[in-house]
Amino acid sequence: MTAIRPTILGLERNGIGEVSFLGLGRKDIIPLWFGEGDIVTPPFIRDAAKRALDDGKTFYTFTRGIAELRGAIADWASRQSGREIDAERVTVPGAAMMGVQIALQCVCEPGDNVLIISPMWPNIFQAVIGSGATPRFVRLDGGANGEPWTLDLQRLFDSADAHTKAIFFASPSNPTGWIMSEREQRAILEFTRKRGIAVISDEVYTPIVYDTPAPSFGAIADPEDDVFIINSFSKAWAMTGWRIGWLIHPRRLATQMAELSAYNNTGATVFAQYGALEAITKGDDFIKWQVQRCREGLAIVEKAIGANNRMSWCKPAGAFYAFIAIEGMTDSHAFAKRLLEHAKVGVAPGIAFGPKTDKQNDRFIRLCFFQAPERLSEAMQRIAKAI
Ligand SMILES: Cc1ncc(COP(=O)(O)O)c(C=O)c1O
Repeated sequence: MTAIRPTILGLERNGIGEVSFLGLGRKDIIPLWFGEGDIVTPPFIRDAAKRALDDGKTFYTFTRGIAELRGAIADWASRQSGREIDAERVTVPGAAMMGVQIALQCVCEPGDNVLIISPMWPNIFQAVIGSGATPRFVRLDGGANGEPWTLDLQRLFDSADAHTKAIFFASPSNPTGWIMSEREQRAILEFTRKRGIAVISDEVYTPIVYDTPAPSFGAIADPEDDVFIINSFSKAWAMTGWRIGWLIHPRRLATQMAELSAYNNTGATVFAQYGALEAITKGDDFIKWQVQRCREGLAIVEKAIGANNRMSWCKPAGAFYAFIAIEGMTDSHAFAKRLLEHAKVGVAPGIAFGPKTDKQNDRFIRLCFFQAPERLSEAMQRIAKAI
């Protein structure tokens, strides 16, 4: 007998972890499997957090986040979306994953389902499973041989039923770099308003775009729409280990957000919030620099793919991942393991980015190209040689 929920007993190690576990800490490997670059958080952000610690910022604080930070996030989000977003809609409960958990807690109960536009970073659908709801995947089409990733809106809407509580997507997407257009966003908003379904828009990569901006759902959602926008300091400000991000939520949920943030995390780490405040108010140049460095990484990967007739992709429009199709590959997990052993490069298997039954994903591997150019070039050469 056990008291542990079958859902929890059934949770599997995610497909990225399954491979990285085999090579973590090994010095002979070029690790490109995780969603972070090789850059330490910039000094001006680290210094602000150190100052906060020295000033004694070590106590509990308002569970929705310190007022200065929420105000600065509201300003940043208003600029980003071109529409006024007030601080009453902003909560800083921890990093993006905490925002995801809270958004799911607001809408899901066992028996419900969440439509997920895939391929999708596995932690998201595992969080849906953990909530007791069921993920329903709606796959983007295309993505190999230069074909664009495209969303079939009708298929998305047809996948909803009476138990659908939310539509979840990341734009720019991890792993594909696909960006949802404003036209698609408007169609989704109209559909979800009619059906009483929430939108969870994961925008952690919006500042990392190449040719066109990624529209924020905040630009079209009204303050009382059932829309949750997830964002984070992890990616655009190189702060993955800080565990700090934010959630923009319906205005009427301000009280509930203070409670949910308290029950989940008792609020976010206070000195990390002061670092985040410095990041969001003074970090625009760092983001520009980062995007430029990602562009160089993108060019290195593009060149390597162009020179190899078995690799193809749809060049990502945002984020810092290459989701590469490898002709003839049918088991991305076995391939990633072989790459680790023989080429000494760590990549994530495509199969991790959706249900195990989605064999389409098994044609892909994912790597993060926010890396030092020489190491990335070396990694791409090793991958090409292995193929
Ligand atoms: C789409 C997406 N959402 C959320 C996260 C998690 O961000 P955080 O580190 O802020 O929890 C990631 C991290 O890889 C991600 O790719």
